Amino acid sequence: MDITILGIESSCDDTSAAVIQNGVMLSNVTANQDVHKAYGGVVPELASRAHQQNIIPVVDAALNRAGIKREDLSAVAFTRGPGLMGSLLVGTSFAKGFSQSLNIPLVDVNHLQGHVLAHFIQEKDTPFNPPKFPFLCLLVSGGNSQIVLVKSHFEMEVIGQTIDDAAGEAFDKCAKVMGLPYPGGPVIDRLAKEGDPKAFTLNKPSIEGYNYSFSGLKTSFLYMIRDELKKNPNFLEERKNDLCAVLQSTVVDILMQKLRKAAKELRINEVAVAGGVSANSALRNAFVEHGEKYGWNVYIPKFSFTTDNAAMIAITGYYKFQKGEYCDIALPPFAKAVI
Ligand code: KG4
Repeated sequence: MDITILGIESSCDDTSAAVIQNGVMLSNVTANQDVHKAYGGVVPELASRAHQQNIIPVVDAALNRAGIKREDLSAVAFTRGPGLMGSLLVGTSFAKGFSQSLNIPLVDVNHLQGHVLAHFIQEKDTPFNPPKFPFLCLLVSGGNSQIVLVKSHFEMEVIGQTIDDAAGEAFDKCAKVMGLPYPGGPVIDRLAKEGDPKAFTLNKPSIEGYNYSFSGLKTSFLYMIRDELKKNPNFLEERKNDLCAVLQSTVVDILMQKLRKAAKELRINEVAVAGGVSANSALRNAFVEHGEKYGWNVYIPKFSFTTDNAAMIAITGYYKFQKGEYCDIALPPFAKAVI
């Protein structure tokens, strides 16, 4: 019998629903929220209100595009956390009501595990080449920067993580310093293409083990701009592209240095990247170059699977469903969930 999972994702500011049947993605529909642009960051109350408006049309669209009727669903999988509580509540409550009305199991999914398992989403007429266990996954988003040792679909160990800001946060905060819109990561990526990554030098942190730190980089960036502006009031306008290129290459260097160390010391050459920052072109290039130089098999997600999406929740739900790992209707969202 077919296993057909509806996935629901509402952890931050994207409302997403997807259908996965027997591991193959049939649909993945996401409504983004433009409302936050004016505020320079996600406003939690506005995010939950927008989820409330979007959730039913998005689920309808996901089922229609998949050509799946409600009665065909085997289970509903939803993001339990981590994320914003108000946002999580919308997806969680919807998933609970929907699964109850259809009398089918409910499966809770950890959002971060979902990002890692996005590499296991199969698509019709597309070669399927997922990472082999054990593999390392660099998980980089607006809220997380981690190196995860992935031993199986369910056994994941965080071997290194940021002790302060996440990589995406560093991009977003530095973009704000330069007066660029939110989210800053994609804008920096675009402007960096016209800049010189060696135009300036930024201090890199020295942190133990496989951990990261990005708050010092942000301060170093801010002080450099402040000092240069004293000499030349037009510095920001004149050198914006160079600033973006320098910042981007420094963040990528910091990320790759710890990943190289982990891969070498653990003798693992299956290396993946996941999360919103994995859309960054310099990081993607660095992965390809490392693959060639160090003999790694690298796994870089499709752009649509880098940012938050429900297909990654549905595929994780698919694996959990097969193990009979359902959850109780009383299970609350968990804003601070970890892998
Ligand atoms: O995974 P995600 O969609 O949301 C969570 O944080 O859960 O990641 C969003 C982050 C933001 O910080 C955004 O600036 C960053 O990913 N991002 C990028 C790029 N695209 C998105 N950072 C650098 N370069 C990009 N092309």
